[in-house]
Amino acid sequence: MNIAQIIFFASLLLPLHATTLEHQNSNAGDGDTIIFTTLGRSRYEFDIFTLSTTHPPSDSNELRITDGESVNFNGYFPSPTPALISLLPDETLIQMEDSSPLHLIYVTERNGTSSIYYDLIYGGDSDSKMKRRSVLEAPSRVQVPLLSGFDHQSGMTVNSFKDKPSLSGEFLVYVSTHENSGEPRTSWTAVYSTELKTGLTRRLTPSGVADFSPAVSPSGNLTAVASYGERGWTGEVEELSTDIYVFSTRDGTHRVKVVEHGGWPCWVDETTLYFHRRSEEDGWISVYRAILPENGPLTTESVTIQRVTPPGVHAFTPATSPNNHEFIAVATRRPGSDYRHVELFDLKRNEFIELTRLVAPKSYHLNPFLSPDSSRVGYHSCRGEANGRRSPLLFLENIQTTTTDLSLFRIDGSFPSFSPGGDRIAYVKMPGVFVVKPDGSGQREVYNGMAFSTAWDPVRPGVVYSSSGPTFATERTEVDVISIEVDAADKSSSVRRLTTNGKNNAFPWPSPDGKRIVFRSGRTGHKNLYIMDAEKGESGGLWRLTEGAWTDTMCNWSPDGEWIAFASDRESPGSGSFELFLIHPNGTGLRKLIQSGTGGRTNHPIFSPDSKSLVFTSDYAGISAEPISNPHHYQPYGDIFTVKLDGSNLRRLTHNSYEDGTPAWAPRFIHPNNVVLQRRNNSRCSFEDCHWLNKYPTLKGRKISC
Ligand SMILES: *[C@@H]1O[C@H](CO)[C@@H](O)[C@H](O)[C@H]1NC(C)=O
Ligand SMILES: *[C@@H]1O[C@H](CO)[C@@H](O)[C@H](O)[C@H]1NC(C)=O
Ligand SMILES: *[C@@H]1O[C@H](CO)[C@@H](O)[C@H](O)[C@H]1NC(C)=O
Ligand SMILES: *[C@@H]1O[C@H](CO)[C@@H](O)[C@H](O)[C@H]1NC(C)=O
Repeated sequence: MNIAQIIFFASLLLPLHATTLEHQNSNAGDGDTIIFTTLGRSRYEFDIFTLSTTHPPSDSNELRITDGESVNFNGYFPSPTPALISLLPDETLIQMEDSSPLHLIYVTERNGTSSIYYDLIYGGDSDSKMKRRSVLEAPSRVQVPLLSGFDHQSGMTVNSFKDKPSLSGEFLVYVSTHENSGEPRTSWTAVYSTELKTGLTRRLTPSGVADFSPAVSPSGNLTAVASYGERGWTGEVEELSTDIYVFSTRDGTHRVKVVEHGGWPCWVDETTLYFHRRSEEDGWISVYRAILPENGPLTTESVTIQRVTPPGVHAFTPATSPNNHEFIAVATRRPGSDYRHVELFDLKRNEFIELTRLVAPKSYHLNPFLSPDSSRVGYHSCRGEANGRRSPLLFLENIQTTTTDLSLFRIDGSFPSFSPGGDRIAYVKMPGVFVVKPDGSGQREVYNGMAFSTAWDPVRPGVVYSSSGPTFATERTEVDVISIEVDAADKSSSVRRLTTNGKNNAFPWPSPDGKRIVFRSGRTGHKNLYIMDAEKGESGGLWRLTEGAWTDTMCNWSPDGEWIAFASDRESPGSGSFELFLIHPNGTGLRKLIQSGTGGRTNHPIFSPDSKSLVFTSDYAGISAEPISNPHHYQPYGDIFTVKLDGSNLRRLTHNSYEDGTPAWAPRFIHPNNVVLQRRNNSRCSFEDCHWLNKYPTLKGRKISC
């Protein structure tokens, strides 16, 4: 049954479930600091843009309608309802009479946390008179946060990923991940509605179920979602095996599955839905139409499904507008292009009408949405160097958290580790190992080869251990544990190889007395854990810690010397499923700490300075958005968690659809402020748009050649 959750609050800002997670801090004093990596996160900057659907697309009529600073995505053009307009400050109401502003609801990532904003934008006339781009680059804008991560009443911040908002009369309908599903590897993604006037919030998704990509019908009465139903996530990271369900927007009741296998629904009228799925006949991802019965029972059998877009083009993330049976908007990937573009699809002529490729052929354009009168299409795209504006490249990006005693940062690099006093950070930036002070100063490259993992010697000053060689390589590939004297004057002798057997040796971590190193090695044909002399390397003594025909890896020695934490697939060797284990350095006391669930991945455990907790990365919270709508990641899951050594107090620190990993726990507190390393010269939107979309199916028996 669906339990409606009702939370009343005076402001419009949601005090989502900030209950059990607060003030559980393992370090006294100022609190803890954790830094982690997000794959590729600093490599893109999205803004929302719009084009007219009635004028030929051109550079001069593409308008950027978000701020050019935050990461802005997943827009929605609402019908300006009284409840929405009443949120605006008075003076903007007056201004509204003299112009026709654009109303936009969208997701915005500010200070590392996503919020839903409502903007009113002047200068973007929705009628025929298009203003020049230069004028519109800086439109006047009123911004109203609708849902944010910060609750002013409690002073708490709440991280939760919010995706694809829409408005139904008085209610904002959106996705949030703030409630623990309670099951490993089960998504926390659920649809909520919040009454704008009162802040009354209800969960519309039943417990135990994950819903994505909600869309509200023109009347507001019905919401359609892509959902796992009872099936759950099985680890898929390309297309999700979701079905489309429809339920009452008011309270989530009358929930019915209407389409098997489909995603990203949108409504034209109360009985017509569009959605995407990969064609089982020809393999092209295409847009389909579902016609629900006007009367009689609503079941998957009573729904008529028709294919809309033809093979030969991948067409997905459709957008509709109320009662527009003439055209829809879609994103496409055409054979031969690496870029995703927004196009219209003429439903009468059955043909595509290209839009964004004619404006910016070498940019990605994502998740289109249409205005209620169909005159505009919106989408998000890399902002480029709008107005010569350069966003700072953040070395440490502060992420707001659920507690005030935790500083959480995203680092622009991977495998960070702290020097014993916390005054320096070593990290990897392929190819090379760098050291830098936490304030961003003194950045230097200390090793210029392919390397991964870093760990500081706790006793010998300025000694950093790393693994030199390729990542994710076989047991037989040569990877060596190296030590780097980062302050050595003579760089030619600063690097020493501690393993020399030509096999795959990696993830070194020193014992607290600096005498030994635990690492993983594939020397017997399987990756197991070994301990060797820290100064002389394996020639100074080598002990085997674990043994078995499986993979033990990513080991970390506790600061009190009692435990070594590691990730292992020993319960299902070769399955790709990793769980966290603990073992004493003398080989006794082996136990499992985190159960990942079937096929789950839990990796990169790192001890807290007091040795009582671990931070790690896991797919424990499943996937938070349809990957095709969120393409800038190799795998769109992986969040940062902490847990006590007895398995209690599991806390989720990140809520996003990115791949977060390689955390480090600082020995001292770093104040929660952004650290800028350098100015960015170019906006680099260098991600690959869903590598799996490059696999084009055959058309009429022959492979499409690019
Ligand atoms: C981020 O936080 C700082 C300080 O808390 C604040 O001044 C700034 O406006 C915030 N940035 C955004 C984009 O909200
Ligand atoms: C929406 O629901 C209301 C109240 O139940 C009803 O009066 C109205 O007819 C419904 N609209 C449509 C289009 O179904
Ligand atoms: C192994 O190490 C643990 C933790 O230090 C200790 O409690 C235990 O007695 C040791 N066992 C043996 C057999 O040395
Ligand atoms: C940015 O451009 C300036 C001037 O052209 C140059 O000196 C600087 O090195 C560049 N910075 C980066 C990070 O490329």
